[in-house]
Amino acid sequence: MPIITEIEDLHRIYRRRVPKMFYDYTESGSWSEQTFRENKSDFDRIYFRQRIAKDMADRSTATKMIGQDVSMPVALAPVGFTGMQHWDGEIKAARAAEKFGVPYSLSTMSICPIEDVAANTSKPFWMQVYTLKDDDFMQRLFDRAKAAKCSAAIITVDLQLLGQRHKDVKNGLSAPPKLTPASIANMMTKVRWGLGMLSTKRRFFGNIVGHAKGVTDPSSLTTWTAQAFDQSLDWERIRQFRKMWDGPLIIKGIMDPRDAKEALNVGADAIVVSNHGGRQLDGALSSIRALEPIMDAVGDKIEVHLDSGIRSGQDVLKAIAMGAKATYIGRAYVYGLGAMGQEGVTKSLEVIHQELSTTMGLCGHRNIEEVDRDILMVPKGFSDGWDRAPHGA
Ligand SMILES: Cc1cc2nc3c(=O)[nH]c(=O)nc-3n(C[C@H](O)[C@H](O)[C@H](O)COP(=O)(O)O)c2cc1C
Repeated sequence: MPIITEIEDLHRIYRRRVPKMFYDYTESGSWSEQTFRENKSDFDRIYFRQRIAKDMADRSTATKMIGQDVSMPVALAPVGFTGMQHWDGEIKAARAAEKFGVPYSLSTMSICPIEDVAANTSKPFWMQVYTLKDDDFMQRLFDRAKAAKCSAAIITVDLQLLGQRHKDVKNGLSAPPKLTPASIANMMTKVRWGLGMLSTKRRFFGNIVGHAKGVTDPSSLTTWTAQAFDQSLDWERIRQFRKMWDGPLIIKGIMDPRDAKEALNVGADAIVVSNHGGRQLDGALSSIRALEPIMDAVGDKIEVHLDSGIRSGQDVLKAIAMGAKATYIGRAYVYGLGAMGQEGVTKSLEVIHQELSTTMGLCGHRNIEEVDRDILMVPKGFSDGWDRAPHGA
């Protein structure tokens, strides 16, 4: 195994090993990619206060997310097409997460279906659901998650409309991949990936094909997807979803304090401050900058999580110190998966854990639950100072 010391090492290997179509799918934001870039670069604008002569021995990053024990406050975010990054990718990522003691979230748009992931893992995972029009499909998705003993549902609320990623359009992104002269030529250079894919039967959207009305084979999927998402979604509809699922509920994709208050009213157990990794509203704030006004509005009433832009344990610590109870990583673990399967996901978690633990120590803390804003220097105007305050309606 090559020496991996940072997430970027996994990224470089990932880029070499996975077909361009799926690399581009991961490594893109919508439109100009401003938000995608700033999700990452805004973490670099926050500094730590170094402390010395404080007891830094026996550090613990263990805490809870929605009441469930986690070895560090980092869950694997729901990521569509994961089983195209590496054969049986969802099962491998879920296994790495359970061994590490962190939650795994399975996307609605996964390749391996819920039942398959449940049969191949031993701890409950979380199920992410999109807000689709089809009531029957939605109820069945929640029921299937319940039967698979999922210990939370995540409703993603920021994808009523799809933000365009130029490369996906140009590459003709699909699962299984469309065979064009360019995609065939590229896939022929990814021998390990190709052989792995040939060794598995899991190559279609396993939660959809055979489950959604009229989608009995992959060719009918495109038509289904085009009309499945509900552009007229409102909070009343989200309340209906709440009734379909009686377990712990996380609402993902909140960027405004007003929406955070609505999520609280719906009866969510946690919200995720997230802009979908810069894949939806291009020009939205980075999620780390959006966090503080949301903490002010609901932070004492509901658990607040954060994702988008996290590539290191330092980023995790900054989010926690800014008030988030926990974080999620998307691309950081997909790089590991595409680079070297389950082992790569484990490696991404190890890298982030080590960075988190050491940085916490150097800031003078031994326990993640004691970390607060005091360890940070945040530039003036980082989260406010807009001509109209984010709280204002
Ligand atoms: C390739 C890719 C696919 C994604 N698919 C989904 C999805 O199916 N459902 C969802 O709720 N979020 C999805 N997301 C968003 C992630 O859950 C998460 O919000 C995002 O990756 C966080 O940003 P990061 O990648 O910078 O960590 C996806 C993100 C990526 C990069």
